[in-house]
Amino acid sequence: MSSTETNRCAVTVPNPDAAWVTITDICEPLDWKAIFGNDHPVEIDLGAGDGGFVANRAKTHPETNFLAVERLLGRARKIVKKAFRQNLPNLRVVRLESSYLMHYMIPVASVSIVHLMFPDPWPKRRHHERRVIQPDFVKSVATALRPGGEFRFTTDHSEYFQAALPVINAETGLKSGPLWDFSTDPHTEFQEEFLAEGRVINRARYLKP
Ligand SMILES: C[S@@+](CC[C@H](N)C(=O)[O-])C[C@H]1O[C@@H](n2cnc3c(N)ncnc32)[C@H](O)[C@@H]1O
Repeated sequence: MSSTETNRCAVTVPNPDAAWVTITDICEPLDWKAIFGNDHPVEIDLGAGDGGFVANRAKTHPETNFLAVERLLGRARKIVKKAFRQNLPNLRVVRLESSYLMHYMIPVASVSIVHLMFPDPWPKRRHHERRVIQPDFVKSVATALRPGGEFRFTTDHSEYFQAALPVINAETGLKSGPLWDFSTDPHTEFQEEFLAEGRVINRARYLKP
């Protein structure tokens, strides 16, 4: 066999499904080192939608690992495709419910930023209990963040925003902080829609002391 043929045989075929996180036990915390193969800081995008935001951020922050969490299979698949097509080894996708994941599967004090962008607002009063921002969820975010870590919350829905702030403020493990510089943040799919409709975007940032 010539050296050229040897080299051709050595080419690895990329796996288009490599970005999926394989869950073997939904009661066990995730192992970041096993998932990403390194100890880089981890950011989580909860309800990542089509993944435009998290993929863009993964591209511009190659030294950070990103976990996209999305409960709809079609959307989760889109994110996996983005990770493959854009060659993003630092982006992984899990199809799970955000609150469950945060509560049971994130190692304590292991995450640098939790992004919650345009969560479903569930505007009807009888549906408010379906909103992701609930005391237990906020506690799980505080537990997951490492010291100095951040919770970034963005929504177009002012009523949800006003209702959520006291819930987050009540969590003693988080302290309200100044907003981050979002001027260069990639826009999310829903953000584009809301901006086109002229809606006000509300943001809040909380820090783990
Ligand atoms: C309004 S969209 C926003 C998507 C994206 N963050 C954006 O800004 O374009 C809300 C997304 O969160 C997902 N989602 C809603 N509740 C969820 C939950 N409890 N766990 C995981 N994903 C959820 C929905 O499937 C949807 O993709």
